[in-house]
Formats: sequence, C-alpha cells, structure tokens
Amino acid sequence: MTALLSIDKLQHGFGRGDTRVDVLKGIDLTIETGELVALMGPSGCGKSTLLNIIGGLLKAENGEIELTGAVNLETGNADYFKYGTKHPRRVVDVRRRGVGWIFQDYHLLDQLTAFDNVVISLELAGVDTSKAEERARKALIKVDLANRMDFIPEQLSGGQQQRVAIARAIAGSRPLLLADEPTGNLDVKTGEEIIELFRKLCSDRKEPISILMVTHDPHLASKADRMLLLKDGLTAASDIRSAWGIVEKEE
Ligand SMILES: Nc1ncnc2c1ncn2[C@@H]1O[C@H](COP(=O)(O)OP(=O)(O)O)[C@@H](O)[C@H]1O
Ligand SMILES: [Mg+2]
Repeated sequence: MTALLSIDKLQHGFGRGDTRVDVLKGIDLTIETGELVALMGPSGCGKSTLLNIIGGLLKAENGEIELTGAVNLETGNADYFKYGTKHPRRVVDVRRRGVGWIFQDYHLLDQLTAFDNVVISLELAGVDTSKAEERARKALIKVDLANRMDFIPEQLSGGQQQRVAIARAIAGSRPLLLADEPTGNLDVKTGEEIIELFRKLCSDRKEPISILMVTHDPHLASKADRMLLLKDGLTAASDIRSAWGIVEKEE
C-alpha cells in the first residue's frame, strides 16, 4: 500500500541575498492512513511553513508532495494529488478534498451556531444544503457535541470550540488534518481530551484519517503514534527525552 502522504526533498526559504533564510532544507516524510504524528521543534524552525506547503497554501521552492485520498465509495476511485511547487491557485482540490485545518484559535464564525459553522464550510466547498446538514450533524456527534449544536461560540468552552473546529475539518471527509498548535489555548486536561479525540478519529474503523499536529508540549506529543523533530531544516524521528530537550533550551 502506498503512504497517504509522501514528501520528497522539500525545500523552502524566504527572502534573497543578505536577508535570505533557508527554512526547509530537504524534508523527507511519509504518513500512513490512521497515523497521528506530532511535529515538534524550536520556535521559528519552520513548522508552520511546512504545514502551509502540505496544506496547499504556499508553494515550495523545490521538492514534491504526493497525497492519496481514500477510495470514494460512489466512484471507486481514490483522489491523488501531486504538488509542492505548484502555485496555491493550482491546488484548489488539495484544499477542498485533501487537507483539513485546525488552528490554535479555532477560527469559528462568532455569530453562527456550532451546527451552522460546520454547514457553511461544507456549502462553501460546494456541498448542497441537505447533504451538508446531514454531514455536519454526523461530524458534531463524532466529536461529542450532539447536545451543543445550537450554541454559538461564546456559549462554548475553549475545548468545545476546538471540537467544533474539528467537526468542521472532518465533515469535509478529507483524509489528512493539519493541526497547528491545536491545544495552545487550552488547559492541560482539555488539551489531553483533544489528543484523545484525535486518536479516536485516526483509529475510526470506517473512515480513519491521519493527523499531523504541531505541539510544544512533549507530554501531549508523546501520546501520538510518532514524534518528529524539525531542526536545522530537516525532520528526524524523536523520542520523549529529546523532545523535552527542545523545551528546556527555549526556557
Ligand atoms: N512570509 C514570510 N516571509 C519571510 N519570512 C518568513 C515568512 N514566514 C515565515 N518566515 C520565517 O521562516 C521561519 C520559520 O517560520 P515558521 O514556519 O512560522 O516557524 P514555526 O512555525 O516553527 O515557529 C522563521 O524564521 C520566520 O521568520
Ligand atoms: Mg508556527
């Protein structure tokens, strides 16, 4: 079986001449379906840059990304995307069907209920309303918000708001979720609950997904299937002890 995500010699930097910074210096990385992978690394090392390129929001200078979606039960075909150095305008399909996002500060629409937040994002992706409503309901049940669907964000706790954002990300049936410091605004216990939810979504028997998550917390990272350390422009497998090393150096 081919990997869900496969990254080959990805390179990116910013600026030129004296102000040039090489950020990613040849990233090789694969993620299988059902894997929860934690990405750690010192502040400014390029974690968000890497996620932005995988998510089709930024084009890399060099290298290649292959993303293979799940088999569509109606057509029998799997989505396949090959990108990396393509302009973001040319990878609309990656954003629409390949990769979902979860951010530290949730990015919910304040005036809309949890349910409508999820429905609207599906409608924007071209799903018709009745189907969007059905999928939104299913996704909100999956993240344990069945009895909070009609609440607006300010009536929800931080952890619940993040779960709405997760419902929105999974409702689009995208095979890969990118989470950039998803627990950064949450207390320890709530952060752990989010990681538990991630684990549950990755090991779902019918529709397993994969999650690449940036975190500064070695304890949370150690609950992932695998930890990666991004350092000096390259990624390497990490264990809990070297992960604590980064945190201690920063403090
Ligand atoms: N749009 C940009 N223009 C110039 N430099 C950038 C830009 N985005 C990021 N950088 C630089 O690239 C490096 C990596 O940034 P980033 O990926 O945000 O790191 P991290 O998420 O690991 O903290 C930093 O030195 C940052 O200043
Ligand atoms: Mg970042």
